Amino acid sequence: MRTVKVPLGARTYSIVIGRRVADRLGRACAKLGFGPRCAVVTDDHVGPAHAARTLASLRKAGFEPLLITFPAGETSKTLRQVEACYNELARHRLERRSFLVALGGGVVGDLTGFVAATYLRGIPFVQVATTLLAQVDSSVGGKTGVNLEAGKNLVGAFYQPRLVLCDLATLDTLPEREFRSGVAEVIKYGIIRDAAFLDQLERDLDRLLAREEAALGAVVARSCEIKADVVGQDETEGGVRAILNFGHTIGHGLEAISGYTQYLHGEAIAIGQVAAARLSEKLLGLPAAAVERIRALFARAGLPTAVRLAAPEKKRLFTAMRLDKKVSQGEVRFVLAEKIGQVRWGLPVAEKLVWETLSHE
Ligand SMILES: NC(=O)c1ccc[n+]([C@@H]2O[C@H](COP(=O)([O-])OP(=O)(O)OC[C@H]3O[C@@H](n4cnc5c(N)ncnc54)[C@H](O)[C@@H]3O)[C@@H](O)[C@H]2O)c1
Ligand SMILES: [Zn+2]
Repeated sequence: MRTVKVPLGARTYSIVIGRRVADRLGRACAKLGFGPRCAVVTDDHVGPAHAARTLASLRKAGFEPLLITFPAGETSKTLRQVEACYNELARHRLERRSFLVALGGGVVGDLTGFVAATYLRGIPFVQVATTLLAQVDSSVGGKTGVNLEAGKNLVGAFYQPRLVLCDLATLDTLPEREFRSGVAEVIKYGIIRDAAFLDQLERDLDRLLAREEAALGAVVARSCEIKADVVGQDETEGGVRAILNFGHTIGHGLEAISGYTQYLHGEAIAIGQVAAARLSEKLLGLPAAAVERIRALFARAGLPTAVRLAAPEKKRLFTAMRLDKKVSQGEVRFVLAEKIGQVRWGLPVAEKLVWETLSHE
């Protein structure tokens, strides 16, 4: 078992990583001094596989959990589901000392976190992260929220959980494609912050893809450390937190123009990271050999590394990139690498250059 602290002053919290750590949920919540009433919020893929143990752990510690289950998938990340949750919480008289448990991936975490941030102007919440993406990324850093018709994550709040449990055993039931999608964020941490971690990933990738416990635990913990360190320096993305968006400028654009159906997030940002590496070679002198290492690692992880777009699709991609909420004053900004483990953010890049890079075979 490993513990990583997210250092945020009075709101500091721990991420506990290991097999079956979710069995400690009840005891941990008792230690945090929460009131007896709580709700476990999950989706209809995760609930049937993992809710029983979660509820049992809470009951054993004297809590009275209510279970709220909504349909799995991004389309549930809406204000309508938020309102349905509020109504359930009110009906069961959850009060200020009550708490929520988000049991699931990023969708459950973002939605539950937002409900916790706003119900009664804020009640505590804990995350039990059940996707690799949630364990290494979405459960760390306190971004919560839901989507609007106009775009993803347009309504939300910065609101930190009180505890995160990354139970590696829950990943046993995670579909292969979802697992590989999470690996794209893991590789990102090596590129942006830690060259030795990228070496380690090249060495241990097969063991990671086989979900071997030792490899998995080490990788989840190092990923959380890197994200926690960045978030600890810049909680609300005024500066350095932007480096976490490496590969996301193009990645978000690709997700948007394909209506969020063709690519999983990790697949879109794998393509985006390879394109960003190529731009880095042209603009910051990232060595060609480093670009190839990056491309080869995504390919070995079974992730896409290029996209073929006809001219009209490329035009739509640029429009989508300009609409992304990370854009300020209409200028698309990039995170680019000087070398593996070191990036710069907020760099403007001429559209012509992005266009050429995306035509690369
Ligand atoms: N808050 C943040 O900082 C942050 C960061 C990155 C992504 N996100 C958000 O996270 C979401 C994506 O997260 P995700 O990839 O975890 O998606 P997800 O929550 O939709 O999970 C992916 C799929 O796997 C299923 N699933 C989850 N755990 C499972 C398990 N253990 N066994 C079997 N099936 C399981 C889910 O039901 C779903 O069908 C997006 O909405 C994105 O905006 C948030
Ligand atoms: Zn991402």
